[in-house]
Amino acid sequence: MRFALITVSALLLSACAEEEVCVHDPPLTYHNFGKGFMDQYCAGCHSTQYPDGHPNRIDAPAAVNFDYYGGVAEYSERVYITAYETGTMPPAGGPTEEELDKLQEWLRCEVFPDAGVEEWW
Ligand code: HEC
Repeated sequence: MRFALITVSALLLSACAEEEVCVHDPPLTYHNFGKGFMDQYCAGCHSTQYPDGHPNRIDAPAAVNFDYYGGVAEYSERVYITAYETGTMPPAGGPTEEELDKLQEWLRCEVFPDAGVEEWW
């Protein structure tokens, strides 16, 4: 009985947490938000259009590319940490608080579940 109660409250808690994070209706997606954000703030350096050593990469690692969804999904945890948590990317800054808030919502609600990233924050 106690186990059942704990299970039910854990389920309720996680349902509430999810509701608070995923607030946009319609939900934020790669097409209605993510692509625009990544193109504007990240793909100027992190793009498959720029091979290793290309001057536009400004030394961004050759494997880390954000000009397509799969690249974002592959490095989604690092995107969350560098752009949202520490603000170290993009190096010169730029995104507003509102945009960063949408970024973390989009990552948590669409990209992490899709990429199989477990909650760690
Ligand atoms: C002006 C060029 C430039 C832009 C724009 C830029 N980066 Fe970077 N990025 C770099 C460089 C240079 C490195 C390698 C040095 C380093 O890690 O600090 C890097 C490394 C990274 C790495 C790999 C290292 C790590 O900490 O995991 C990630 C992930 C990353 N950037 C994410 C982003 C994201 C997300 C954005 C957009 C919000 C972005 N970057 C925008 C230049 C850029």
